Amino acid sequence: MAAKWTYSDKVKDHFMNPRNIMREDNEADFDGIGQTGNIKCGDEMIVYIKVDPKTLTITDCQWRTYGCASAIASTSMLSEMVKGMTLDQAYTIKAKDILAALDGLPDNKVHCSVLGDKALRAAIDDYYRKNGMEDRITTTKAKIVCECMQVTDEDIEHAVLEGVRSFHELQEMTKIATSCGECREEAQSVMSGYIQKHFGL
Ligand code: FES
Repeated sequence: MAAKWTYSDKVKDHFMNPRNIMREDNEADFDGIGQTGNIKCGDEMIVYIKVDPKTLTITDCQWRTYGCASAIASTSMLSEMVKGMTLDQAYTIKAKDILAALDGLPDNKVHCSVLGDKALRAAIDDYYRKNGMEDRITTTKAKIVCECMQVTDEDIEHAVLEGVRSFHELQEMTKIATSCGECREEAQSVMSGYIQKHFGL
């Protein structure tokens, strides 16, 4: 059991030396700002992005948080990952991608890793709104099934189309229902619905 509370070297590094924290009050210099909080964790996160309007590429990503060590390490890693990405690429980053880059988090802290990517998508949406590109906003089109891990019905459908057939496999791929667990019943129902829809099983 003790191993579940062990932080990887990468988590320790990003917590002790967090990258890209916003240290100045220069919000106006940024092109998109996104804020989110997770009431179950008690954390709050704000992500700021600068965007090259010609290539729609993220040129800078900074952040601030009232968050725990896991939220800090996760967002620090995220802020490094997204620099140089297009907005489309950054939009698809999920908690599981950040977890992989950090070599994992203790099970009870996994839900903290969703704060950064959720705030990032809000910042990208903010950029789209400010620049007349509302049609590119997709976060409101998908229904969130798991609030803690920010897993949507589209994510579940994608997992089913990728070959997932059991709830355990779905959790392995998406981390759904790995925090409070309140979404478990609905998640199983949504997964079964897509298996039936696509494969008639
Ligand atoms: S809503 Fe909490 S784990 Fe899914």
